[in-house]
Amino acid sequence: MTITREDELDGLKEIGRIVANTMHTMAKSIEPGITTRELDEIGRALLDLEGAVSAPQSVYDFPGATCISVNEEIAHGIPGERVIIAGDLVNIDVSASKNGFFADNGATFRIGAVKPSLVRLCKDGKRAMEIGIKQVGSNRPISGIGEAVGKFASDRGYTLIQNLASHGVGRSLHEYPDEIATWPTRGDKRRINKGLVLTVEPFLSKGGLWATDGEDGWTLYSEPTAPVVQFEHTVVATDRGAIVVTLPG
Ligand code: CO
Ligand code: CO
Repeated sequence: MTITREDELDGLKEIGRIVANTMHTMAKSIEPGITTRELDEIGRALLDLEGAVSAPQSVYDFPGATCISVNEEIAHGIPGERVIIAGDLVNIDVSASKNGFFADNGATFRIGAVKPSLVRLCKDGKRAMEIGIKQVGSNRPISGIGEAVGKFASDRGYTLIQNLASHGVGRSLHEYPDEIATWPTRGDKRRINKGLVLTVEPFLSKGGLWATDGEDGWTLYSEPTAPVVQFEHTVVATDRGAIVVTLPG
């Protein structure tokens, strides 16, 4: 959506705060031994309490309230019997709607002690998102996001998953301008219009290039197999840069 009024920004910020609080509370609830289903139930209860509705469930009939992806799963993991243990990387992606506004927020969390290279990957994954967000502003090229994130990744010897794009959001989960690359592309002449609501969600990896389907019809895996992290905010483009709406509070 494109924000033109203050009350639209308020509505978007409200669902932004709800999805952020839900994601962070879920992350704090992770202890080794918890199943991804138990974690999802915590998320669902928080959304219910706020009068918000899970977006993957309402829009796509996803079998869970939130997407929880562990280690080799990189996105759209289905909550279930999988037990989270120390050393895991757990990606939690919460998207939901309230009063017709949608927001989308994701992050990868380290459980207990993980390998130093994975600690670095997590920190750099968050930086990659922040670098992408810095490219957002009125009338700036959409391809600037992928160019900046791509340079950051290649300078540090990382790869980016190149078929999981960022997207417009706000009145639905995925909307205009549809796919927004977080990797370098050629020939994308589109510009970010003032007030545009979009996600910035690079998938940074140590070798992964593509997301491929698993057998359950939802879960995505890295090809070639490699650690992957994702960090995602919903932002609004303004003349002064991006406003991040998925902030806890
Ligand atoms: Co998301
Ligand atoms: Co998204």
